[in-house]
Amino acid sequence: MKDLPNTAAVIGYPVQHSLSPVVHRYWLKRYNIQGDYITHEVKPEQLEAFLLGEMPSIFCGINITLPFKESAFYVLEEYVRDEAVRRIGAVNTVFCKDGEICDATNTDWYGFEQNILQHVPGFFEQLRKSGRPVMVLGAGGAARGVLYCLYRQDIPVILSNRTQSTAEALKAVYIETKYGEKIQVIPWEQRELPLMEVGFLVNTTSLGMLGKPSLNIPLTNLHPDAVVTDIVYVPLKTELLKEAEGRGNRIVDGLGMLLHQAVPGFEGWFGKKPEVTQELRNIVLEARGHV
Ligand code: ATR
Repeated sequence: MKDLPNTAAVIGYPVQHSLSPVVHRYWLKRYNIQGDYITHEVKPEQLEAFLLGEMPSIFCGINITLPFKESAFYVLEEYVRDEAVRRIGAVNTVFCKDGEICDATNTDWYGFEQNILQHVPGFFEQLRKSGRPVMVLGAGGAARGVLYCLYRQDIPVILSNRTQSTAEALKAVYIETKYGEKIQVIPWEQRELPLMEVGFLVNTTSLGMLGKPSLNIPLTNLHPDAVVTDIVYVPLKTELLKEAEGRGNRIVDGLGMLLHQAVPGFEGWFGKKPEVTQELRNIVLEARGHV
């Protein structure tokens, strides 16, 4: 057996901005584990050769970020073992052992689920019992992870995206399952209408992100018990979350999704299930610059 370094990495192009090293290095230090986590830039034309070539002999595993999550799925398909990757259509975490790739998976849906449950314990069960649907805005990569979580939780969804055909394509991923009937696609112009009935509002669009226009969805009709979350975490409290909070709705910001999606990777590479704590949040916020 080769003497492999206990080092994981995040690959992307560009990748220098990634906050993942801050998260994993915090955990390595906290749990006193010998190892490292670095950024590793890969040029798009080198992705396949890197993943199938040197990668497993230099890293114990990797995270995959933009713009490679989808293309990595095709390159690593033979190592995919779970339904999540196939439904989401993207790989973000890879595990290697003894110089070989052993699993290529996706933890985004888990990060979304655990972030909500950390802030609102028992929420999905409550929602399921209430029979109220979830409103998901957007149908891009982030929405695919959110939908997979809601599919596992068996909670009905009203899905709305500026480009309706993308929302229809996302529904089509579940069409052969019973859950397909629980996904209703509505036109973007009508996104405000269901707010009275939904128990959970999720923004997965990039609207509201620093430098982008705001989401612009009046919450006047939103049910007072509805929980609101935003996958945007720069700024931490988006206009959507501010407005929801101002009305007395419970809010969950998007930073926790980033932190929780990192948990299965760390556990698989370094052998310890790490905790997402307030201290970790503060350190990541500090590293990112407070916005
Ligand atoms: P990600 O993979 O991070 O989710 P993405 O795939 O580019 O990013 O998706 C961005 C989402 O934000 C999409 O749902 C996109 O809608 P379209 O499918 O119509 O492009 C949505 N989005 C981006 N800019 C938008 C805008 N100005 N108005 C409405 N929706 C927008």
